[in-house]
Amino acid sequence: MIYFQARRVFTACRMIKGCLEQAVETARYEACRRTRAPYFGSLLAASQVGTRAAWLAKCARAELKNFKNHEFRILEIGSWAGSSAVIWARAIKNSAVKGSVLCVDPWEPYINQENIGCSQTPLVMERALQKGQIYELFLHNIRACGMEDIVQHRKGPSDQVLPTLSEQTFHIVYIDGSHFYSQVIKDLENSERLIIEGGILCGDDLDLQRHEIVVAHAQENRERDYIRDLKLDKPFHPGVTLAVAEFFGGEVSCYEGFWAMRKTKFGWQKIYLR
Ligand SMILES: C[S@@+](CC[C@H](N)C(=O)[O-])C[C@H]1O[C@@H](n2cnc3c(N)ncnc32)[C@H](O)[C@@H]1O
Repeated sequence: MIYFQARRVFTACRMIKGCLEQAVETARYEACRRTRAPYFGSLLAASQVGTRAAWLAKCARAELKNFKNHEFRILEIGSWAGSSAVIWARAIKNSAVKGSVLCVDPWEPYINQENIGCSQTPLVMERALQKGQIYELFLHNIRACGMEDIVQHRKGPSDQVLPTLSEQTFHIVYIDGSHFYSQVIKDLENSERLIIEGGILCGDDLDLQRHEIVVAHAQENRERDYIRDLKLDKPFHPGVTLAVAEFFGGEVSCYEGFWAMRKTKFGWQKIYLR
């Protein structure tokens, strides 16, 4: 009896704590919107890039350091509220090089209950997309970070926008759009022609590589966002894992889920970041 009462009190306390945290975060979000400060907090899953931010910045800095031409161009597929776009743009602004970031995203609903898998984040994202809040927040964040002079965007799905872009015009193409296999493979294929020789094709969410997982299970779930691997019992994005391995023919260079390969005359090569 005491045990059940204690559990009920504990559950109630957790719910109150959750509501309070949500209220505090909502107030912070509203204050940022009012005062034109950037917002990359937990509300609307606005903060996407997490610990991988450091690897994006390292990759951009390494490429910019050796860049000798007139304009360094980055293409980003999937921008959400702008956190990774701002990292790319900041790396350009902090360098001695002129450059730009082109963000491609429909900012429209694309996930449903059947294909989310084992994480609730896509549902939070889906609700935000349905309310049209994320596109507004993206524009707000780019302005608030002072990046609107070098960040442009095209609102539309990557397979409609990418074929309209000129070939060999980007020094980095970063893929972080839909995680479903059918879309990731198209993004890889459509990106290849856009990258200059010596440029980088990279992306997010490669939590596990194909040689580490139970491939048959991933194949069965490749149109799902996030599942658990049967052997390692770790969550991963099966569509990203399978498409990346298929496109490059095996293992790629990968840093905490941020993967990257260099396009050369002789094919794709791994890159080394420190
Ligand atoms: C994981 S979020 C991107 C996070 C962002 N790169 C960041 O770090 O802040 C995935 C994004 O892909 C976008 N997306 C979904 N389908 C897409 C498609 N077909 N083409 C381009 N973007 C797509 C979604 O609207 C969403 O903004």
